Amino acid sequence: MFIFKTHTELSAWLLTQKALHKTIGFVPTMGALHSGHIALVLQSRKENDITLVSIFVNPKQFNNPIDFEKYPMTADADIATLQQAGCDAVYMPQVEDIYPPHLPHVNLELGMLNQVLEGPKRPGHFDGVVQVVHRFFSLIHPNKVYLGLKDFQQCKVIQALTQQYFSSIQLVFCPTEREANGLAKSSRNMRLSKEAKHTASAIYHILQTIAAKYKKENLSDVLAASKLFLQTKNITVEYLECANSDTLALTTQWQEPGHNVVLLAGYLENVRLIDNIQF
Ligand code: PAJ
Repeated sequence: MFIFKTHTELSAWLLTQKALHKTIGFVPTMGALHSGHIALVLQSRKENDITLVSIFVNPKQFNNPIDFEKYPMTADADIATLQQAGCDAVYMPQVEDIYPPHLPHVNLELGMLNQVLEGPKRPGHFDGVVQVVHRFFSLIHPNKVYLGLKDFQQCKVIQALTQQYFSSIQLVFCPTEREANGLAKSSRNMRLSKEAKHTASAIYHILQTIAAKYKKENLSDVLAASKLFLQTKNITVEYLECANSDTLALTTQWQEPGHNVVLLAGYLENVRLIDNIQF
């Protein structure tokens, strides 16, 4: 497995691969890899000649400096995991390699996508995601990019970016990998105690319960009762909302089958957890 620290080395290697007509699957990550990330790598391996993973904790997307400082870094373990998963190359740049002086700021009108849910709760977050992903796509020009539906809103944001600037890149959205108890795998779970990992399973259970009440009960009542239930588990709900899964417009009415997404952000032991269910 190749390990590239600079875009110059990476680009030279990519040129040789493209000259050989190899298709490139790309998996952007911030490291601290778990089986959710690896599922994306394995999907990419199935569908491309070459799989490239990036590991870069992007400072621009952290609206909370403490979250940035605490973000887990496990580079050696990540490299070993990727090697085992059959990844072909890793790009692990420094900040200066991604954001050289005078790199133009990418403007993308996100509209609704930035006005709901994570948008107002994490000001600047999606702008930071847009900057880093634009830089990656410009450097790599992959054929396909693998993204996790756990970050549903991020998928929509990257879709908008791709439609505007990289129409030849195909995005592949992959299902959320979970612990046996339903807790969505996340690099931040490392900061939860054993007990909290158990408690946090209530998040997925409540999302499943909401989906099971589809069109049987009033949606507003279901959401209100669900928030109360999570409170009893000491999970501080930041938002629990239903949205149209195409537009992300929030709604208190059930949508047509296949167009509902219920999204949650909450805190447990000061760790921010997000999850969602689509139906
Ligand atoms: P990170 O949180 O490391 O996630 C990298 C990719 O893994 C994202 O596409 C995310 O949705 C996916 N992922 C995370 N947990 C998952 C799970 N349990 N099941 C399936 N996929 C999962 O998301 C980012 O990094 C960054 O914002 C990034 C896109 C790399 C830009 O900096």
